[in-house]
Amino acid sequence: MSTMHYHDYLELDKILGAQNPESEKRNLPAHDEMLFIIIHQAYELWFKQLHHEVDSVAMIMNKPALNDNSPELQTVVHRLKRTITILQVLVHQVDIMETMTPMDFLDFRDMLRPASGFQSWQFKQLEAKLGLKFEHRHGKEYYTSQLRQEHVSGIKKAEADKSVLQLVSAWLERMPLAPALSNDEKSFWQQYRSVYQGSLAEGEKENLEVFDGVFLNDSQIQSNLSSKANRSALFIMLYRGYPLLQLPFQLLNCLLEIDEQLSSWRYRHMNMVHRMIGTRIGTGGSSGKDYLKAAADKHYIYKEIAQLNSFLIERRKLPQLPTELETRLGFVHK
Ligand code: HEM
Repeated sequence: MSTMHYHDYLELDKILGAQNPESEKRNLPAHDEMLFIIIHQAYELWFKQLHHEVDSVAMIMNKPALNDNSPELQTVVHRLKRTITILQVLVHQVDIMETMTPMDFLDFRDMLRPASGFQSWQFKQLEAKLGLKFEHRHGKEYYTSQLRQEHVSGIKKAEADKSVLQLVSAWLERMPLAPALSNDEKSFWQQYRSVYQGSLAEGEKENLEVFDGVFLNDSQIQSNLSSKANRSALFIMLYRGYPLLQLPFQLLNCLLEIDEQLSSWRYRHMNMVHRMIGTRIGTGGSSGKDYLKAAADKHYIYKEIAQLNSFLIERRKLPQLPTELETRLGFVHK
């Protein structure tokens, strides 16, 4: 019979033996360094779990058979929701960090140089897996200059692999439900375009050109989503009440929520940094708060999906769907 023990199963010798404050080693006791270490370790453990969830989501989405009616779409949404819940906890963990005052931090801050959360390869790799490409990063070369070579390779690999954003984009392109494009003015998209045009205020007229670029022709606009993918995503948002579109809508909504939680974390971290070190540079040598602010502004991963909300029209003005399509979107009655 197995004699599995809690302590061994969780390998607590390793985990609980991994808090070794620098201040103790140097015989310059700093009470709060224990908190500082444990908070960072807790973050890294949760990052590990986030990788586990995001990897499985990517694996499922990479299957060619995944369609809107697949039971696995439910698994994807379920795991993305878990990802969001973990991110919410990570945002709240800043509360604990903030119980440390700037003076308590100064007791050991210099002993950490040049270590910094900036070197958290798990965080950077997670951003990459979700869809942040190198060319969209703030500070480009700078961020890799602080990392070990093996960690840079891991991030580069994640950047080269298909990200969740790319996989969602491919799934949207495959989705057969949104009405096809046609020049006929009675067709769905032409009707939609003209209602949208009618909804624009004087100062927004040029939005129509953007609409055409986003939905009708793959324009010069640099985007992670093709016009076909954009049409599918907008269609899902507009008709999300139909049974077949409920899960696809939740999937898109999860992505926006992930961006929002990541952004909340960035802002809370940034404000904490400002309070803790003012305008001094970070232990990792960046400009500190200014660097973090620029990254927070630039690192939205699913901005193209968020932007689709600028093209919604009032529910009561939505074009009537053809009966055949309406039946496909609903529960089938025979
Ligand atoms: C006293 C608390 C903290 C201070 C003063 C602080 C300060 C900073 C600063 C100044 C940077 C910019 C890079 C640099 O020059 O070092 C940074 C980056 C970062 N920190 Fe913190 N930090 C703190 C706590 C945390 C915690 C608890 C985490 C959790 C893992 C964390 C994760 C990160 C990450 C992931 C980055 C990179 C962000 C990016 O490149 O977009 N930090 N931190």
